[in-house]
Amino acid sequence: MSDQNFSILILAAGKATRFKSEHSKMLHRLAGRFLGEHILQTAQAANPDCLYMVIGHEKEELRKTFARPGLVFIEQNEQLGTGHAVMMAREELEKCPSDTVLVLVGDAPLLRPETLVHLVEIHRKARAAATILTTRLEYPTGYGRIVRDRDRVRAIVEEKVATPDQKRIREINSGIICFSRTHLLKHLSELTADNAQKEFLLTDLVEIFNRHRLKVTAFPVADSREVLGANDRVEMAQIERHLRLHKAVALMRQGVTVVDPQATYIDPDVEVGQDTVIEPGASLLGRTRLGRDCHIQQGCVITDSSLADRVILRPFCVISNSEVGAGAALGPFARLRENAVIEENARIGNFVEVKKSRVGRGSKAQHLTYLGDATLGQKVNIGAGTITCNYDGVKKYPTVIEDGVFIGSGNMLVAPVRVGQGSYTAAGSTISEDVPPDSLAIARSRQVNKEGWVKERKRQEE
Ligand code: UD1
Ligand code: CA
Repeated sequence: MSDQNFSILILAAGKATRFKSEHSKMLHRLAGRFLGEHILQTAQAANPDCLYMVIGHEKEELRKTFARPGLVFIEQNEQLGTGHAVMMAREELEKCPSDTVLVLVGDAPLLRPETLVHLVEIHRKARAAATILTTRLEYPTGYGRIVRDRDRVRAIVEEKVATPDQKRIREINSGIICFSRTHLLKHLSELTADNAQKEFLLTDLVEIFNRHRLKVTAFPVADSREVLGANDRVEMAQIERHLRLHKAVALMRQGVTVVDPQATYIDPDVEVGQDTVIEPGASLLGRTRLGRDCHIQQGCVITDSSLADRVILRPFCVISNSEVGAGAALGPFARLRENAVIEENARIGNFVEVKKSRVGRGSKAQHLTYLGDATLGQKVNIGAGTITCNYDGVKKYPTVIEDGVFIGSGNMLVAPVRVGQGSYTAAGSTISEDVPPDSLAIARSRQVNKEGWVKERKRQEE
């Protein structure tokens, strides 16, 4: 995005104290991504020369989750404050060719890459030693306040130590600061933990710089939402709401109807075709792709799946890692999982579960059925209550049902088994042997009616 040189250092070693969580804040989920993923994507999009992430709490998990080309992890094994976190990075920062360092807090998920590039430009123009990304908040509680002397910043005062007057300051530190590396590394060692928080606070560098007559300026970002911190679960929920709405609005602008955007959960990477209608309570997650003119009714949950055009999902379908062909209709209460493939114009109805199976064009399984490890040809009809018995307790076996087959209601198809093209099976059959094409298979015992049986029993009871 930018050809101006700078490095980015993301501070992400802290524990999620205010989350009341045993897990790193970076690993909490926000709008379908890990919190840490949001800031990493912003940082990468700004195209820095060097990208570092300071990790500590749950560092092995963070390494595994966030590893990518060009990202260098730096360990801060004791979390002694944001200033201390930067101290841990000294050696790496010295290796980077650029002399400008952008320090980002890990919990600013709404930040845009454009803003970072802009911050660096302003910093360079001002020839400042540090430029702080700030904003004005109506309710600034919890944030570090910006103490100004016109365009110079004299100090950042953390909430804990702010005087009542300082608490009234509405301009806050976003936690994102652009430093000239020379000054940063020269004065970093002057930080002490001799303060109310008993931590090495990066923000104390502002006063130190001022003492050395170095220039500290601020760049107030216009849309304050961009720098909102996700400091506890309440703030996470507020940010989540904002991100979800953002995605829904983007889709609506592309011609998708989202009936109630606040009640719809669409992950950032989801794609939806024109004129598709999404009803409330639907969740479109992961790498899901929907075609045009689909109708996703209430309460459907679709994960990592693709739907072609004109698919109808009636309420409460749950679909994961599966594919649905054009014009197919599913639900209500249909379940597709693990590589189910439903071909064009097929019908999957109430309480039907499909796993690792292919249902051919125009085939139907409308009621109370389990299809596992099965391959259905075209125009197959599966009677209500049919089950492919694919598992013998040790291994799974395939069922093949060829084109045009009619499976009667309540069949047990004991795999491995094949039902030949055009055949019928009688209702209530347990099919354990292959059925040749164009045949009728009946696999149940004949009915016996014992007339007068009830009367006879009653007489014996007397
Ligand atoms: C910080 C700022 C505050 C600002 C706010 C904006 C400081 C001292 N305060 O406060 O002025 O208004 O962000 O959201 O910088 N971290 C480490 N190692 C540590 C401590 C923290 O890596 O030893 C990381 C955390 O994981 C987090 C980031 O630094 O990602 C900021 O820490 P946090 O505790 O969230 O700071 P705030 O109190 O929000
Ligand atoms: Ca924070």
